[in-house]
Amino acid sequence: MSSNIILTGIKPTGDPHLGNYLGAILPALDMARQNANEKKYFFIADYHALTTVKNKQELLEYRHKIAATWLSFFEGIDHCYFYFQSQIPEIFELYWILSCFCPKGLLNRAHAYKALVAKNIDQGYDPDRHINHGVFSYPVLMAADILLFHANKIPIGPDQKQHVEIAIEIVKNLNKIMDKKIPLPEPIIDTSNNLVIGIDGQKMSKNYNNTLPIFSDEKELKKRIGKIQTDSTPLGEPLNPDNCNIFKLFSYIASTDEIANLKQEYQSGTIGYGHAKKYLLSAYKSYFESKKNKYDAYMANKASLEHALNTSSKSVKEIANAHLKDIKMAIGILA
Ligand code: ADP
Ligand code: TRP
Repeated sequence: MSSNIILTGIKPTGDPHLGNYLGAILPALDMARQNANEKKYFFIADYHALTTVKNKQELLEYRHKIAATWLSFFEGIDHCYFYFQSQIPEIFELYWILSCFCPKGLLNRAHAYKALVAKNIDQGYDPDRHINHGVFSYPVLMAADILLFHANKIPIGPDQKQHVEIAIEIVKNLNKIMDKKIPLPEPIIDTSNNLVIGIDGQKMSKNYNNTLPIFSDEKELKKRIGKIQTDSTPLGEPLNPDNCNIFKLFSYIASTDEIANLKQEYQSGTIGYGHAKKYLLSAYKSYFESKKNKYDAYMANKASLEHALNTSSKSVKEIANAHLKDIKMAIGILA
């Protein structure tokens, strides 16, 4: 019988944001509800974060924030496992094994690494300036995250698609020597939202400081929304909804009727961008309100958060151990 094993991770590199929600959390929630009896793995990719975060306090804080986010959205759904990647050392053993089944050329062609090299060359520097090996081998660790649990449904944003494709190439190589074949993972991408834009109109990302955090307090959220870039159409003139970052951000979270109403107000010239930002603030607050209470409770009680993750990670470790053993037997590390 074929089963759906769902798995996804978020790097603790900043406050979880609307892009993470629409790209990864919401599709994962939909899949989790449709697959009530299957195993679902939601983790905090803390060693992936180490490629960029080198500050102890920051990493500790962001780890908690991502953990609290997973728990607030998924608690109460059966068969969900939550854990820090760093709690499962088996992932790192598999990472090395997979490195030896991964053609280096695959990694040379990975978008994230290639973009950093291209930027260095553009600026006249050595191609590998300031690029650590973790950035280069990042896709192999991600393959280990996925393959160790035989996960076959991977809800992610479109920017992560290539990483899952690399995992597929790696597992095809490994499977040549495996008696029990490991399933090929499939990226699950919600194409309706594509890449969610940030307050500057570029891809929303913690790296670009252009996010709308899912759970910030009202003052901070208002400040962020206040910074959304717009054109300089004066008040009283019609606004173009198709070319407006506020309208786009509103459309992600508002109902069809609300979107149609705002569009009508834009076109009639009865509102300005300041009003539109107020609508967005209010829609955003109510969209995440019920989850924010849970999130705040977890952030205020870190002991309960740690307890939930420690309990869950014990079962994860058992599964990880059994699957790693099969691989070690296939490659000749265990008899
Ligand atoms: P960030 O780019 O902010 O560091 P992560 O790399 O931790 O975000 O992404 C976690 C998940 O959220 C991934 O599945 C990623 O594809 C998704 N994601 C991040 N930003 C966006 C976005 N702007 N639009 C859609 N999905 C996104
Ligand atoms: N690389 C992903 C990101 O930056 C996070 C991640 C790590 C992940 N391991 C994963 C996502 C495994 C899905 C499956 O967003």
